[in-house]
Amino acid sequence: MKKFEKGFLLGAATAAHQTEGNNIHSDYWLMENMKYTEFNEKSGLAVDHYNRYREDIDLLKKAGLNAYRFSIEWARIEPEEGVFDEKEIKHYRDVLSYMHEKCITPVVTLMHFTSPYWLIKKGGWRSENTPFYFQRYVSYVIEKLGDLIPYVVTLNEANMGVQVNSIALRYRKMMEKSASNVEGNVQVGMNFNAMMENMKAKAGEYVTLFGTPDPKTFVSGRSEEEEDVVISSHIAAREAIKRIRPEIKVGLSLSLHDIQSLEGGEDNANEEWRKEFSIYLDAIKDDDFLGIQNYARSIYGKDGLENPPDGAELTQMGYENYPYALGNVLRRVNKELGEKGIKKTLIVTENGIATDNDEKRIAFIEKALEGLRGAKDEGVEVKGYFHWSLLDNFEWQKGFSMTFGLIAVDRSNMERHPKESLYYLGSFAPKEKV
Ligand code: BGC
Repeated sequence: MKKFEKGFLLGAATAAHQTEGNNIHSDYWLMENMKYTEFNEKSGLAVDHYNRYREDIDLLKKAGLNAYRFSIEWARIEPEEGVFDEKEIKHYRDVLSYMHEKCITPVVTLMHFTSPYWLIKKGGWRSENTPFYFQRYVSYVIEKLGDLIPYVVTLNEANMGVQVNSIALRYRKMMEKSASNVEGNVQVGMNFNAMMENMKAKAGEYVTLFGTPDPKTFVSGRSEEEEDVVISSHIAAREAIKRIRPEIKVGLSLSLHDIQSLEGGEDNANEEWRKEFSIYLDAIKDDDFLGIQNYARSIYGKDGLENPPDGAELTQMGYENYPYALGNVLRRVNKELGEKGIKKTLIVTENGIATDNDEKRIAFIEKALEGLRGAKDEGVEVKGYFHWSLLDNFEWQKGFSMTFGLIAVDRSNMERHPKESLYYLGSFAPKEKV
């Protein structure tokens, strides 16, 4: 395979809570530290990216990559409602300046699942005030740092709440039929079995911490009808960014499966795609780009989601190792946008595999990039590819055992150990600075 063309963003992605460590003012920090937690372990120091970002960016650069997607943590910037922390702004200014010094293009996510704890106490991602709070935080960040930011992803996987809702419904159904494992197709690390246990005791703890037995975090299950707050938050953020710095390219990202159907499963598959993608078309039509995040395929039959085919190889996450999904999703998104008359640049903001076998990661990258290139050759406008993840990190409720990274981290001393896959990915980077 040849190198990508000049201007193509080839890099890796991380998120603040999963890598930085000590995100103490966030909702997740509280949930991880509950007695009846559903988290396997605590994020703690994570992989200390907060202090070691220079070393991490150096490794990315050394491998030849030219772009880095990371997130700014709202809970750090605004630890209490209306109180903004200049020191944290300075930290992110240093991170961005370092990237510019190294000629690495930043793609900045402003909300990657974790929220300030106070926001959740005020109703979180169901409260009609949240778009206002989000816009206020976004405006502050863009006023202070906008001169260093070319691309913004407002919300990471805006559709995750709706996806979690479908999974929870499916889980309940399966439990009724007393099936044992339904976690196989959850794209993000969640422990559904643990979640269903100790529900009552947990509800009591939630009341103490968040003032409600049912806190609405960003990834709490949401029905399609409840998606308004998320969509309005995105639009409010985009308006603020464009007012302050019209030159910044703005988009959100969506978690998209390559949804396939068996005979008789077409209606189920179409309905799933509609919920995963089509309901967001209106929200994104005025964006500059769309962030595509793909890890797997889902196959639908007449009774709903099917298990992976017999003999399929599974990743550490329990879903199928299926790198061909990326090209299929890019083509499908592009086709639907075209049919609706919406022209949009696509950026693959996440794609990756949880495996402890780096040869499998290399093979995955090879196939995924082949798919991406095939889509580009057919005319799909793809501006970049960010592998998830630069570093092995905290995979939410599943903890540190899921290894998605191009770089391993020994958490006993925080030493970095780049994997071959880092250099393999870097070998496709365009030669010149973008
Ligand atoms: C999320 C990441 C997560 C990754 C792997 C994506 O859904 O944005 O935070 O670590 O998938 O599960």
